[in-house]
Amino acid sequence: MSVWRTKSIEQSLADADHPDFKLKRRLTAVDLTVFGIGVIIGAGIFTLTGRAAAEYAGPGVVFAFVIAATCCGLAALCYAEFASSVPVSGSAYTFSYATLGEMLAWIIGWDLILEMILGASVVAQGWSAYLVTLLEEIGLGWPEGFGPDANAEFGQPNLAALLLVVVLVGLVTIGIKESLRVNLALVAVKIFIVLFVIVAGLFYVSGSNYDPFIPERAGQVSSEGIHQPLIQWAFGLEPQTFGVLGIISAASVVFFAYIGFDVVATTAEEASNPQRDLPRGIIGSLVICTLLYVAVALVITGMVRYDQIDPEAALATAFRDVGKSGFATLISAGAVAGLTTVVMTLIIGSVRVVFAISRDGLLPVKLAHVNPKTGTPIRITLIVGALIALVATFTPVGKLEEMVNIGTLTAFALVSIAVPVLRKRRPDLERSFKVPFSPVLPILAALICVYLSLNLSIETWLRFLVWMVIGFAIYFFYGYRNSRVGKGGDETPAEPLHM
Ligand code: ALA
Repeated sequence: MSVWRTKSIEQSLADADHPDFKLKRRLTAVDLTVFGIGVIIGAGIFTLTGRAAAEYAGPGVVFAFVIAATCCGLAALCYAEFASSVPVSGSAYTFSYATLGEMLAWIIGWDLILEMILGASVVAQGWSAYLVTLLEEIGLGWPEGFGPDANAEFGQPNLAALLLVVVLVGLVTIGIKESLRVNLALVAVKIFIVLFVIVAGLFYVSGSNYDPFIPERAGQVSSEGIHQPLIQWAFGLEPQTFGVLGIISAASVVFFAYIGFDVVATTAEEASNPQRDLPRGIIGSLVICTLLYVAVALVITGMVRYDQIDPEAALATAFRDVGKSGFATLISAGAVAGLTTVVMTLIIGSVRVVFAISRDGLLPVKLAHVNPKTGTPIRITLIVGALIALVATFTPVGKLEEMVNIGTLTAFALVSIAVPVLRKRRPDLERSFKVPFSPVLPILAALICVYLSLNLSIETWLRFLVWMVIGFAIYFFYGYRNSRVGKGGDETPAEPLHM
């Protein structure tokens, strides 16, 4: 059946090498690592650390970070192998088009769109929360009813989040080459703030807060109906608050904090030596972030007893509680600066994925039209930007993180499986980086991803199902018929993408 048709790796490479498509190859391993850190460190560490410690794991949240990092690390190895053998734009979507066939590639692309569009929206909401806190701390404020509100209903506008998305979409539309330097500066600010939390916080750590390090089991995660984790409903396994199982529940929450390293793979066509540097960038950024996260988790749970941690803004509140409001203001300012890069990179990532998909004809090729003046695909940027703006502005805060996680976990699982498949189908391909112990590690990676996703709520799964149904409908009514590969690949290709 032709839903399994593949786009040959040679074709993908040729598309990318087409003079009209060719992107400038100038990013080094260090650039890629910085890019990765820029998109990984974001709302997750600033907000979820506190929530996971207070509600699920106590100081044991440190182990949750290690488990989530292990899951991402295994997936990262798989991404790295792919990126080193198929160094073209579009990330997991392109990899799987070469291996698993068009339909699964489309589904992965569809998941990546979910990950990045919702990810950008959720982090924009996180940004708005820190902006309003910062404005209040320096004596200004934000009009009530038009900012982030934990109790807001669907439809109550969050104009602060809208402001950020509009500005960033504007920047991305006119071409962001110049702003790479701004990105670098913002990443530096962000790393500085995280290091600051770790170093300044060390002085306020009290050993007694680590006792108990893994608080005793305290019953099930209190949710029922469609709010309960799927695994609880399906297998009668009951995710726990605290105890060892609490740590697993926490891991599926803090997983969000690691999302983004895979976006590094979308820059494959701009790396000067992708085969060597992409694996370094992907794994390097993940390792650095893991070390920082574990340190932050240790410090925060050492500063404040886990049952007194503020689940909304743990980092800033921890310092305010020890009488250091100035530090809290600094952290809020750093978060505002730092989260900006996450949102911008996720916007660029989603535009790239939609671009790659449209270039192949699975979405209208016309969308991939690149504006000659700006050198960017303005139509895609505006459509994607409008979607992100809508979601960020009108959906209640804190409802969509799980959707980002499920989209990402599914993409990770599929990419992991694709590694041994590609090895079997194309043993001849040059692979400058290879996952050790394949197929054991890739299969393990996929299993962990599936297990973590089963810990997400039934509500999330239902929403994901709806997303998938829409995805399949678009594929069978549009993509399948208009695919360039399906038509023999001889359609005029879309124009180059310069961002
Ligand atoms: N990892 C990113 C964050 O935590 C998505 O904001």
